Amino acid sequence: MNSRPVQDSNDLINEHLARLSLPQKVGQMTMAERSHVTPDEVKQYALGSVLAGGGSHLGNNTPADWAALNDAYWQASFGDADSPGIPVLFGIDAVHGHANVRGATVFPHNIGLGAAASAELVSRIARITARELLASGLDWNFAPTMAIVQNPQWGRTYESFGSDPQLAATLGEAYVRALQEEGVMACNKHWVGDGATLYGVDQGETRIDWAELEHTHIAPYALSLSAGVLSVMVSYNSWNGAKCHGNKFIVNDLLKDELGFDGIVVSDWNGIDLLSEDFDEAVAKSVNAGIDLFMVPEKWQTFIDTLLRQINQGRVDMRRIDDAVTRILRGKHRLGLFTSPRPALRPHTGDKGFGCGAHREVAREAVRRSLVLLKNDGALLPLDRRKRILVAGRNADNLGHQCGGWTISWQGESGNDTIDGTSIWQAIRAVARQAELSADLSGTDADVDKHDAAVVVIGERPYAEGHGDIRSGDDVLVEVKSMIDGLMNPLTPYGDTLELSSLHPEDLACIMRIAKKGVPVVAVLVSGRPLIVGSELTASQAFVAAWLPGSEGAGVADVLFGDADFSGRLPLPWPRMKSDASGSSYEALYPRGYGLTVFETASQ
Ligand code: GLC
Repeated sequence: MNSRPVQDSNDLINEHLARLSLPQKVGQMTMAERSHVTPDEVKQYALGSVLAGGGSHLGNNTPADWAALNDAYWQASFGDADSPGIPVLFGIDAVHGHANVRGATVFPHNIGLGAAASAELVSRIARITARELLASGLDWNFAPTMAIVQNPQWGRTYESFGSDPQLAATLGEAYVRALQEEGVMACNKHWVGDGATLYGVDQGETRIDWAELEHTHIAPYALSLSAGVLSVMVSYNSWNGAKCHGNKFIVNDLLKDELGFDGIVVSDWNGIDLLSEDFDEAVAKSVNAGIDLFMVPEKWQTFIDTLLRQINQGRVDMRRIDDAVTRILRGKHRLGLFTSPRPALRPHTGDKGFGCGAHREVAREAVRRSLVLLKNDGALLPLDRRKRILVAGRNADNLGHQCGGWTISWQGESGNDTIDGTSIWQAIRAVARQAELSADLSGTDADVDKHDAAVVVIGERPYAEGHGDIRSGDDVLVEVKSMIDGLMNPLTPYGDTLELSSLHPEDLACIMRIAKKGVPVVAVLVSGRPLIVGSELTASQAFVAAWLPGSEGAGVADVLFGDADFSGRLPLPWPRMKSDASGSSYEALYPRGYGLTVFETASQ
């Protein structure tokens, strides 16, 4: 972080502002996706920022490739004799480590960190994430998510720290402080109420009163704002019928005036498109609502032309433009971008610590601390590593599934070929010499004469955003209405129920197949959220919620075999069944905060 006192930056900011032409000011308010913009265009239009969307790779997707990419953009924006003289900001979603890049340390997604509930651990994770971003020459992380999830049907449940506003506030602040102290810009998202949409429909309608919005969804931002978070991303959802991207009260009056946020307010990916089918209308409404930097990945030139025209027409006031550009310049100054070397020559660029063993040990610790023990009949756990363990289940040997979305690709991967790490099976094999992997993962080879216990790893496949939504019943109507109203992007949802036995019947079949042979089962659920698992719980002697543990499956084996006890607690209630036909809420099977330990179950 730049140690320069803010008042010096104000002089420099005003100098830069005075030097910029109107087209350059509008260029600073524009963010393009790297595959749709060249360094020469960054120079020509004085673009303020470039991003890489989920899964947007180049070359061999190595840290060196990324550093060279940003170096070219940075040089064009700030290093050449004919540059606009304002360094470009390069942003990416390193939401559970720098997981877009091959070889990165992939941490548990936030829902697992919510279960671990340790600000100190989150701080270490943020520092490592920052180091691995800096090793690849990047400046800005669109993290941490501050969503307070209300309905596990939401496909982004796993990006949230859970349903507790105070916990999210504490973990979010720890992440922001550590990331920015290491020299990477943080971004609290998505402002505001993203976790409370009706039926968990992504980008949908958050229909709650002011008190609920304030106490549950605004409050978690307070600590991060006080900690000096440099950017906030606006949310796709609407609040009581008004889309946040066009809501002046939500963006300008509340976040900027009332809460005093003086950093950069950035739109989400084409988030302004949801305001109107008329792009002209969308641009004017979102700029006047108070958004400063616009994530218009492909149509950035249209955005620039539109806004310039609206300024000349008087539909957007120059004071709004100068407010936006001042905030963008302030963010860059505070990050130290004006005084840092070019990306290729920065101290951490090319750092050999990228994905190193020490980083992975922290991720492994995070996995251990994220696991929640829901059941342990007959003290089956911890397992004896000398015993004959059968490992089965679709997610037993699948790094892609245990990492979930926002890993190498936007929607995540399947298999072990694209991510460096240890699957849960590989970790168990390393500990228990007599462990064996079920031939076809289905447990058909279970044999009570050959196996003392079985670990069956079940759960979801990866997804991101609306593709992870569970849509059923009335919420389908909400979805259709939302699409008709242009309130959301239609995405293919994951399924129509939270019941795992319907989503993936093969999981229950596998557990029962093994249990019926007299082999006791430890079920390990790999999922981005709590699921309705009544049948699977009944059929298993022990049951562990593992969330999306990331690259270090060894953390699961550590706890299964007793090198550490369970310490994770549910970061949100665990659903039993829909409390009403519409599915707007669920009866809880276990309350938030629930979690057993081996120690306490040993005496049962
Ligand atoms: C996405 C997400 C947001 C992310 C952005 C850039 O649509 O809503 O969380 O930071 O686009 O990838």
